Amino acid sequence: MVARHQKARRSGPRSPPRDTLAPMTERFSVTLLPAGWTFEASSDQPLLLAAQAAGIKLPSSCRNGTCRACLCFKPEGEITYRIEWPGVSFDEKREGWILPCCAYPRSAVTLDVPHASRSATRP
Ligand code: FES
Repeated sequence: MVARHQKARRSGPRSPPRDTLAPMTERFSVTLLPAGWTFEASSDQPLLLAAQAAGIKLPSSCRNGTCRACLCFKPEGEITYRIEWPGVSFDEKREGWILPCCAYPRSAVTLDVPHASRSATRP
């Protein structure tokens, strides 16, 4: 026999279909200055890894937002971080400095990365 409170729980609101819970992934264009190279970046991938997938090497070391080896200027575009304290100050963020190793695009983005290089072979 099923208790009354168990029946009530079963007849409550249903969960939305599983596919409506899937995160939306968008793709954005990234332009690298001064070279003028472009590549596509997914909203669920850090810019550093998207560049790597496109055969472009950006300066990096820790790849977790602490060493600042990847610090670069973002003249245009919107990004977000998934870590609470990326190694960039409030003033640097306001000026447009970002850490592409842990920055996720939210729009088309332009980055000024003078030391970017093309990989000899794509991964
Ligand atoms: S590679 Fe270390 S902060 Fe980006």
